[in-house]
Amino acid sequence: MITKKIAKHKQITQRRLRQKKTLKAISEIKNSALQLVLNAFISAKHKDFNQQDKIAFERCETYRNKLLNDHSIISYEVFGLNDTAKVSNICAKAASKKAWCHFLYGIAKALNHPTILEIGTNLGISGSYLLEATKSKNGFFMTMEGLPQLCDIASQQFKTITATNNFQVVQGLYDDTFPKVIKQEHNYNLLFIDGNHKKEPTLNYFKSLKSHIKSPAIFVFDDIYWSKDMQDAWKLIKKDPAVNFTIDLYEQGIVIIDTAETIKNKHFSLHLSY
Ligand SMILES: C[S@@+](CC[C@H](N)C(=O)[O-])C[C@H]1O[C@@H](n2cnc3c(N)ncnc32)[C@H](O)[C@@H]1O
Repeated sequence: MITKKIAKHKQITQRRLRQKKTLKAISEIKNSALQLVLNAFISAKHKDFNQQDKIAFERCETYRNKLLNDHSIISYEVFGLNDTAKVSNICAKAASKKAWCHFLYGIAKALNHPTILEIGTNLGISGSYLLEATKSKNGFFMTMEGLPQLCDIASQQFKTITATNNFQVVQGLYDDTFPKVIKQEHNYNLLFIDGNHKKEPTLNYFKSLKSHIKSPAIFVFDDIYWSKDMQDAWKLIKKDPAVNFTIDLYEQGIVIIDTAETIKNKHFSLHLSY
């Protein structure tokens, strides 16, 4: 445990020391998707947002606070577990932290025709940010979750942000729902993989989703250093011949696939926030 913590802080310190050079190197590459991610990173890092963004963030954080005070019980029966948890605890443990939501929001907001897939709805915190970012753009947001009670809670929240035809919450275990979602033939340009953090499923999602994107597409993989398995998955994803750029943010890994780009497998490391 302590060795893991030391390794993490060493990695993060190195990234912070090299940040200026890395930002300069990224800014010199003329690729629109890479620049879009860079701008979202800088905005989130410096909390540089306009008034409209700040109002949207406030709405999302009001929702988060409501959940943090909601002690209703959620059952994990669907996963074959005889276990329960309070909404408040699920929200505290599983929902993306503020800075990461701001980053995701920045990416989504800059997309021209946002078609977003999220694997891992949970209570809809990241989903709320994604919908706030894209609600004026006639985008589409598909999100997947195993726990039926969480799907209901998230759907209710999403309805307060946008019309029901702009999003779909798909309930069920990913082994059952992922093949069906893929068949729907949406071509996504933002894909947030934040559920089922295991090596084989993560690699399978990436392998399948690569052929269901509209280029340029941005993948955001959460928890890439969460386990040895996830680190292995991340290493293999980086090497994939379809990949143009990656940014390793420690908590998340960003992958850009842009079929019009000639640069391949160019990797950067930065750090946004703890
Ligand atoms: C880390 S949470 C997602 C957090 C959310 N994206 C946010 O930031 O607000 C991951 C979610 O994936 C769901 N999940 C994990 N494995 C799953 C599986 N195999 N099938 C269906 N849902 C799964 C969990 O129930 C959990 O709610």
